[in-house]
Amino acid sequence: MTSAAFQQCINPDCAATFDVGDTLVACRRCGGLLDIRYDWKKLPVPKSMSFFEHRWATKGTEAEGRADFSGVWRFRELLPFYRNEADIVSIGEGRTVLQQADLLAGQLGMKPGKLLLQYEGLNPSGSFKDNGMTAAFTHARMVGAHRVACASTGNTSASLALFASLAQMQGIVFIGSGKISFGKLSQALDYGALTLQVNGDFDDCLRRIRQIACDVPALGIYLMNSVNPFRLEGQKSIMYRILEARDWQSPDWVVVPGGNLGNCSAFGKAFMELKELGLIKKIPRLAIINASGANTLHELVNHRNLQWADGRFDAGIVQKHYAALDESNYHAHTVASAIEISRPVNLPKALRALAVMNGVVRQASDEEILEHRAMVARWGFGCEPASAASVAGLHQLLEEQVIGRDETVVCILTGHELKDPNATVKYHTGIDMKSAQDSAPRGKVQGKLANQPIPVENDLKAIIRAMGDDPARIGLN
Ligand code: F0G
Repeated sequence: MTSAAFQQCINPDCAATFDVGDTLVACRRCGGLLDIRYDWKKLPVPKSMSFFEHRWATKGTEAEGRADFSGVWRFRELLPFYRNEADIVSIGEGRTVLQQADLLAGQLGMKPGKLLLQYEGLNPSGSFKDNGMTAAFTHARMVGAHRVACASTGNTSASLALFASLAQMQGIVFIGSGKISFGKLSQALDYGALTLQVNGDFDDCLRRIRQIACDVPALGIYLMNSVNPFRLEGQKSIMYRILEARDWQSPDWVVVPGGNLGNCSAFGKAFMELKELGLIKKIPRLAIINASGANTLHELVNHRNLQWADGRFDAGIVQKHYAALDESNYHAHTVASAIEISRPVNLPKALRALAVMNGVVRQASDEEILEHRAMVARWGFGCEPASAASVAGLHQLLEEQVIGRDETVVCILTGHELKDPNATVKYHTGIDMKSAQDSAPRGKVQGKLANQPIPVENDLKAIIRAMGDDPARIGLN
């Protein structure tokens, strides 16, 4: 299938193309973000979305059935970058649920049937990340990678660790020390990833891992963050499943939390392609919700008028904003630790998604996020704090009358409630279990499979040493 698929820089003045077998996280010519593109004329594209329906009933046992069983790969004709189905690395991801949330709708003053919650926390690792990870691991297998790594606010690391363990690759995760919830940390350790607790935040970790993956090829690290364009191919499937659950009718709105802005970017690409292929009539509108303590997109779009401008957006506005953040030594801070990010790497693609989906951006305070998280738990299945930013944002947009009370809205609930039980217990009891755990005396570690996290300074050589390599061996003195 790969001859009809290629990578392309999204900067229209560059538009350089690369082979789908290259491992890149930025355009080699201009440093821009990359898309996976397809020459659809050469591919067997279904004539209508209903083509996919027969796969829903397939059991996940035989090789062919495995792809049908996955909520990502049963739409494989819409992400055909792999060579053949043997490349596909799947753990049964994407079998998630779109719930008609009438009780919660009533609380927000919406009519029954108008609010739908897409529970991506029902994925195997408990978050939407599995949708993207299956695609990126498929590419990693195609290119023969053995060591995969990411920086993470917790969910990417949990998902990477699970896939790496099952695909038998070495998983390495960089997390900000004390920055991720215990549920997510416990997963990375349990699934056996080498877990480096870097003395810094997510932005620091991402800078380091990009440096290591791009500038130190001798380490053979395959980068799994959402700058990897294959990740976003998998995340498109969240939109396909929403359409599928609605008999292929688009909702009026999709509301999603924004962190590193990979998910919203993937949604924009999904609808861009479906429209181009004539597979849908209407593109829904998009609302991206930042936490107010990590509100770069909100600041840039709503206060500095940053726009996609057909790909020729004003990069100077972004640079000026980041320089001001550096000058004031600003670090993002929010109770929604999953989206505690101040330099979102997919910013240009998110601007494109806003243009394609006629989108808006809002921010939600920590208090709004916590209240709406509790509401989703009381009147739905529950979710982690970052996910509830979507419902908090919807509430604001209803009050502003940007979203009408009779419009159909899907909020994406990105992570499972049990990812961050500390936030829940603190909300209900005032007890901060995390602080208690931090100061508790440490017992002896005895388990046969115990996998301790490794604290490390935010320093390239120290990190490479913690990864078990010698900086001198790879020419770093
Ligand atoms: N919700 C949850 C639960 C997340 O874990 C994330 C991102 C987001 C929303 C934001 O999605 O980055 O695509 O805009 N978590 C990443 C991580 C950054 O490392 O787990 P985004």
